Amino acid sequence: MCSKYSGEAIELRPPHPEDGAELHRLVNHCPPLDENSLYCNLLQCTHFRHTSVLAVMNGEVVGAITGYLLPAHPGTLFIWQVAVHEVARGKGLARQMLANLLERDICAEVTHLETTVTPSNDASRAMFAGFAREFGLSFEYQDYFQRDTHFNGQHEAEELLRIGPIPARTRPQSSTGAVRPKELFA
Ligand SMILES: CC(C)(COP(=O)(O)OP(=O)(O)OC[C@H]1O[C@@H](n2cnc3c(N)ncnc32)[C@H](O)[C@@H]1OP(=O)(O)O)[C@@H](O)C(=O)NCCC(=O)NCCS
Repeated sequence: MCSKYSGEAIELRPPHPEDGAELHRLVNHCPPLDENSLYCNLLQCTHFRHTSVLAVMNGEVVGAITGYLLPAHPGTLFIWQVAVHEVARGKGLARQMLANLLERDICAEVTHLETTVTPSNDASRAMFAGFAREFGLSFEYQDYFQRDTHFNGQHEAEELLRIGPIPARTRPQSSTGAVRPKELFA
């Protein structure tokens, strides 16, 4: 699947293990995201590749979403991290990557998205709210990981954001076989 930003084509695709180092570099470049070990990113690019997506422009990884289906509730896609390089921000790329994940066969039974967001991350909150608004989905926040109880006072609290229910969807195919995000929830 390809999009165009300022004339540059951006390809959305699942990561490969060989992308682990690039993913590591992008995440480290996108505060306030937690910096994971490279090993963690390699696992995301192997075990979790089917529920993760990279955005590639001119051979460079400029965006990524890592996620997984909750082991006990596979109808929920948990979004682990979202990162968009500043050269590609503010153009809807994060929302488009979310839609790309939901279009995949592995997410056919997904009814909800979940993630955690800090109260101070305005860009992240605006992005998820924009995604929910675009597709007419409800969303709510609730307390989750607390600064003192869970982070030993060393990290801002993380609220749980739950988006859904996501209605059963048709799967319109374009001539190239790619599904366009706007057609997701017909
Ligand atoms: C959050 C992030 C992924 C958004 O990526 P993006 O591709 O620019 O997102 P989108 O273009 O799809 O949506 C951005 C929305 O946030 C808004 N926004 C962007 N920066 C903002 C800011 N600093 N404050 C408030 N709103 C902001 C945009 O106006 C847009 O809102 P709209 O849909 O109402 O127009 C990107 O800014 C990023 O990588 N930030 C650093 C890492 C991070 O915080 N990740 C999220 C943690 S879960």
